[in-house]
Amino acid sequence: MTVSFEEFPHHIFYEKAQEFRGSHLLLTKEELNLLVTLAHNSGNSQVKKILELGSFIGRTSCFLSYLGFTVWSIERDQRYYQTCINFQTRLHLTDMTFLNMDALSFLERHNFDWLPFDLVFVDADKSRYLTYFRLLSAQLKLSKLKTLVFDNVFLNGQMRDRVIKYVANQGGAIVFWGSQVRSSSYSGVLNQKTGRVWSRQVEEGILQLLAEAYKQFSVTLYDTCDGFLVITVPEDGT
Ligand SMILES: C[S@@+](CC[C@H](N)C(=O)[O-])C[C@H]1O[C@@H](n2cnc3c(N)ncnc32)[C@H](O)[C@@H]1O
Repeated sequence: MTVSFEEFPHHIFYEKAQEFRGSHLLLTKEELNLLVTLAHNSGNSQVKKILELGSFIGRTSCFLSYLGFTVWSIERDQRYYQTCINFQTRLHLTDMTFLNMDALSFLERHNFDWLPFDLVFVDADKSRYLTYFRLLSAQLKLSKLKTLVFDNVFLNGQMRDRVIKYVANQGGAIVFWGSQVRSSSYSGVLNQKTGRVWSRQVEEGILQLLAEAYKQFSVTLYDTCDGFLVITVPEDGT
């Protein structure tokens, strides 16, 4: 069954996100479509299994499940988790599992042999991106996991330019995605709007993640609103 973006009731998630003052946490249409494309192209199995770290109110997970993917999604905030469960019930999505726990604890305890994933979408605490990468990159070699996607690698305008420069210097691919490619000044405005101040520690963590990823994997940077970093196993499997 082919389902279009418009057929899904995104508005019910936007209304709920507003109640939590978290509309900015939802992916843009371009980002969501990009994630779907990456998921379709990841792994070899017919039924693709996706793990999301950081569910918020479950909009991305519910959309992926609605499209036919098997989804597991981890959220540590109890109120957000309960909202995810409510949406899952409301939309009659059965092949989806929300867990109310810390994403790092989940990764440390999860057995990827027992339940392998084709793609992991990392959208939880940014200060732990390097830790998530270290745990998950082991699975890129050992399990059927083929793709890691990290959201929000452009934490502010300056960071966006540093990451792009870094990727270009390493000879990596930067793909401009969708019609809503934003300029670095837009990222700055976005930051002011949300009132988020990203620490130098987080910025350095992202660059360190890139440095480690380049040693062994294919790295592609998608220039979406907040930046999608995609790490895959090279074609020849080395
Ligand atoms: C940007 S929002 C996620 C948005 C969601 N992925 C989407 O596409 O709609 C980040 C979420 O990660 C959750 N989070 C942050 N740190 C976490 C952790 N260590 N374990 C689990 N969830 C975490 C936050 O509570 C928040 O709901």
